Amino acid sequence: MNVKPAPLLEVTGLNVHFGGTGFIPGLRTPPLRAVNDVSLAVMPGETLGLVGESGSGKSTLGRAILRLGELTSGEIVFDGTDMARATVGDLNRLRRQSAMIFQDPYGALNPRMRVGDAIAEVLRVHRKVPSSRIGSRIAELLNLVGLDAGYANSRPLDLSGGQCQRIGIARALAVEPKLIVADECVAALDVSIQGQILNLLMDLREQIGMAIIFIAHDLAIVRRLCDRVAVMYLGRIVETGPTEEVFTEPRHPYTASLLRAIPDIDPDRGLPENPLAGEPPSPIALPCGCAFHPRCPNALPDCSTGEPPRLGRDGPHRAACILPPGEIRI
Ligand SMILES: Nc1ncnc2c1ncn2[C@@H]1O[C@H](COP(=O)(O)OP(=O)(O)O)[C@@H](O)[C@H]1O
Ligand SMILES: [Mg+2]
Repeated sequence: MNVKPAPLLEVTGLNVHFGGTGFIPGLRTPPLRAVNDVSLAVMPGETLGLVGESGSGKSTLGRAILRLGELTSGEIVFDGTDMARATVGDLNRLRRQSAMIFQDPYGALNPRMRVGDAIAEVLRVHRKVPSSRIGSRIAELLNLVGLDAGYANSRPLDLSGGQCQRIGIARALAVEPKLIVADECVAALDVSIQGQILNLLMDLREQIGMAIIFIAHDLAIVRRLCDRVAVMYLGRIVETGPTEEVFTEPRHPYTASLLRAIPDIDPDRGLPENPLAGEPPSPIALPCGCAFHPRCPNALPDCSTGEPPRLGRDGPHRAACILPPGEIRI
């Protein structure tokens, strides 16, 4: 009998709202909807790319999934447990099985702490190895990320940005995670170093088999690295599907606009952080209907009224747009 493998992570109807609880006399201030009714799933060992302009809610979603940030409502089932309603014990398990890699490799490390101590801290907190094995495990982890064991004695300020990011990855791997959320983890690095770190992540994924949510505004990197991609606009996922399909046959005008913004001359070039003309509307005052309609070249009268279109449920490639796929012209 063929049993469909269970997702490692299944997020359903997740909302993260900021503010909006304060009252101006006579006027209720609405919340900022940073993550708005998001549902997604990640299979064990899978790499999901999360893309969208700056401010679309990618980091907020990533942090909420790992319970490193607040959430307003929704379900986050990780390895069978709803972490949105987790007990302290459940959260400890989540901490032992997941990790985040941040954009700023220096900011993520304590500048006064030696690299070895920073890794040892993680090993101790999560009781990953007996005390007698901590030294050798640090050496193993450093080797895994391509650094000599001698780096254990250095401090972050002695290191380059790329070396620092390798340490960030070593710390993440110290928990032996089933899921890593990498938030713009190469955006601050030089292009040549970016390539090295991405190759490292791909090698580690092969070796260790962890799932990765790879947050990036750079579509070229996502195309190279990710099995599937989810495109966010103003807190919502507007399109999701297998990476190649989404890149070659986008079904949401927003995705199509993002792709068009990649310069033709050099297909490997990244995407600027705000590639589209005009500003997205404020997530405090979202437009009626589809939130993309004021910027959408294909918008129909129906797009500006009622509820935003839903992502749909059938098939791996889905978009929240009322236009048939063939009718998107960007
Ligand atoms: N702690 C916070 N308090 C209030 N608003 C926030 C907070 N964090 C993020 N936001 C807002 O939420 C929206 C999404 O932000 P973010 O998740 O950082 O987007 P992205 O990572 O895609 O650039 C933005 O409008 C941002 O200003
Ligand atoms: Mg971000």
